[in-house]
Amino acid sequence: MAFILAATGSAVGLGNIWKFPYIAGENGGGAFVLIYLLCILIIGIPIMMAEIMLGRRGRQSPINSMRTLATEAKASRYWSWLGWLGVIAGFLILSYYSVIAGWAMAYVVRVASGVFEGATADGVSHIFATFVADPEKLLAWHSLFMIVTMLVVARGVKGLERTVKFLMPALLAILILLVGYAMERGAFEEGVSFLFKADFTKMTSEGVLTAMGHAFFTLSLGMGAIMVYGSYLPSKVSIGSTTMLIGLADTVVALLAGLAIFPIVFANSMEPASGPGLIFQTLPIAFGHMAYGSIFGTLFFILLVFAAWSSSISLIEPAVAWLVENKKMSRMRSCIWAGLVTWGVGIGTVLSFNLTADVTFFGKTFFDILDYLTANIMLPLGGVCIAVFAGWVMSEEDSVKELSLKRQWLYKTWLFLVKFISPLAVVIVFLKSIDVI
Ligand code: PHE
Ligand code: NA
Repeated sequence: MAFILAATGSAVGLGNIWKFPYIAGENGGGAFVLIYLLCILIIGIPIMMAEIMLGRRGRQSPINSMRTLATEAKASRYWSWLGWLGVIAGFLILSYYSVIAGWAMAYVVRVASGVFEGATADGVSHIFATFVADPEKLLAWHSLFMIVTMLVVARGVKGLERTVKFLMPALLAILILLVGYAMERGAFEEGVSFLFKADFTKMTSEGVLTAMGHAFFTLSLGMGAIMVYGSYLPSKVSIGSTTMLIGLADTVVALLAGLAIFPIVFANSMEPASGPGLIFQTLPIAFGHMAYGSIFGTLFFILLVFAAWSSSISLIEPAVAWLVENKKMSRMRSCIWAGLVTWGVGIGTVLSFNLTADVTFFGKTFFDILDYLTANIMLPLGGVCIAVFAGWVMSEEDSVKELSLKRQWLYKTWLFLVKFISPLAVVIVFLKSIDVI
């Protein structure tokens, strides 16, 4: 139970509520959503099982687990590089994740103050634009989020399970409330057909890469976060059913967020492709017009901050665990170092929404580059390595035993997916996005 809660806490976060809607909006909706769901099913779920399995067998930080497992399988010691890739990806993701979590914190105060009561779409968009144009404000909230997160990690993450146990049902309830609002007051049919009617002419190979990358991002795969939690999992627990549960919870939250947001987008003639500000420009409209909206809105953003917090812990944990194991640093000092570096890189993201918004590389700001590099490249790469290790390097004898799936055909399906389908799919999507095939 503790594992399910911690892993769900890691999976459900800004990825579901902030990122999924805006990237679905940028990539034309339905076809993108369908490809994303397909990636969850045939790539994400099997790789999550593989990652939990490796963590449980390795029983250390990802870098050291990979080294131990590689030695055990008489494979190259370079497999531990996979752990490194994960540590770096975690750092980079947290550096911008914390900035966005800071936005959510700022919105707790804004919604609570009642500024959105009766606000129009233009008014709400204006408030958001003014907010992100102010680097000092963004920096202050980013700093606050980092400090609070690192303090908790330094203490050794107590209270995570209890928080998630309360968080998930509360988040679901308020999302359902928002979907209710969207049904009543939004352009619900238009929103639904945008999300679920697949029009493949809108898909680019870039969009397919983003959908696939997001499957890794949203399930926290490919960087060792799930491996760390797996290392605490008792050997009796079934990896298959826990993975399904986590995947289902994550998907439901993302789809509900989409169902709440797009009807508001269309009812207010807004642009689905508004980018990272999408939820901050739409949901306050709903909270500004429903009964007790300020209370529900405050609660919603508080829950979003906690969801971001339980994900952030798992982003930094591989790095901290490694520092503690290998550098003989105390947990406190490891946290200070890891936190400082992450915070510093985050300043780049803070500025990319205002002062350096025009400084681009291939049309991408600093934030865009970090997001692209981590979600679209590093996580899928890490995930494929995990799949290859679990499918090709580890002996079948061991993986059968670790997974102990109830039915033979389930195991065979899993093995086929991690051995062939996931690596092949990722490689094809990679090559397609750089126009090689
Ligand atoms: N899965 C988290 C989310 O959807 C983000 C995350 C990615 C957390 C990778 C840990 C590792 O918000
Ligand atoms: Na997620």
